[in-house]
Amino acid sequence: MTAGPEEIALALAMLKQGGLVAFPTETVYGLGADAFDQHAVEKVFRLKGRPSHNPLIVHVSGPEMAKRVTSDWPTDAQRLADALWPGPLSIVLPKSPKLPAIVTAGGPTVAVRCPDHPTTLALLEVTNTPLVGPSANLSGGVSPTRAEHVYDVFPNDEVFVLDGGPCRGGIESTVVLLPAPESHGLATILRPGLITPEQIEKILRTSVLVATHETLSSDRTQPLLSPGMLDRHYAPHTPALRFVETDWKHVAARLDHSQRAVVLAFEPRTLNSARHSLVILPNDAGACAAALYALLRDADATKPDLIAIESPGPARLASDPRWFAVADRIRRAATTIGP
Ligand code: TXA
Ligand code: MG
Repeated sequence: MTAGPEEIALALAMLKQGGLVAFPTETVYGLGADAFDQHAVEKVFRLKGRPSHNPLIVHVSGPEMAKRVTSDWPTDAQRLADALWPGPLSIVLPKSPKLPAIVTAGGPTVAVRCPDHPTTLALLEVTNTPLVGPSANLSGGVSPTRAEHVYDVFPNDEVFVLDGGPCRGGIESTVVLLPAPESHGLATILRPGLITPEQIEKILRTSVLVATHETLSSDRTQPLLSPGMLDRHYAPHTPALRFVETDWKHVAARLDHSQRAVVLAFEPRTLNSARHSLVILPNDAGACAAALYALLRDADATKPDLIAIESPGPARLASDPRWFAVADRIRRAATTIGP
């Protein structure tokens, strides 16, 4: 499904007046504003309740537009764009001095990505301007994968929503930081996504680093590599626990103390109370990513006192590297339970 030319014209008018447009992508919906309009970008931070230290991703129609917001476009960026754009990869590069500082939270780099969705590519074409686009949810909440998720949250006189149907990918883009060419450093994955480190290594023909929670936070002598990555994120309102298969018995014990609970698991589980319900998670990494946020929202909407969600264990992680991105989002949504 794609919004038609009339909706795109309305979206264009909204952006030109300094307004906000929520747009569909192949990952999640974004809350868009003209990246060069400082007041509009301020409004994005305000409506989302986003901390001002957390930089925004800038959406572009391709490398030419990306060069308008970056001050350097290395060969590796071109290689990644040739192979993976439009697609779920955000590339972090030095920012252009012309891009308002608020977009990058005052930092020296900017994340750029070309989204793979016909509606938003058409919008970028007619606006001919890069668009900031954090996920269109309140800060810390679950990202929206359907237009309804956006209508539910933002006032419709402030945010025009382009309905592009359900998002295919379902979790946010992979974020990769490219090193300055003179540093001879390695590219670093700052946020895992459906584009895997292995894919990037093949394209760059060198190994890449994968930042962990520890590497992102440990070296306090350096500015934070990616300020937003440490925040609790993607979380439902209901207290949520995550578990791996072998820890099910601990979850079962916790469930005995909760009145109403929803369990999301890969296999059927025996539940002892009629007030506990079970949702089976898809067994394919891509299908699980696509469904994950909507399932969390649905579970949340029933207002249980507990959500328990199974995280992919070693066998799944070894079978398909995209499970790492799913596990990452489950880790940010839920606290762990174990022995
Ligand atoms: O798939 C996506 O990336 C979606 C869709 C709408 O494109 N957007 C999205 O944006 O997830 P947001 O703002 O929710 O997440 C952006 C992440 C944040 O964790 C932020 O800290 C990081 O990217 N980021 C943005 N600019 C950065 C920069 N210059 N350096 C390091 N990390 C950056
Ligand atoms: Mg977000």
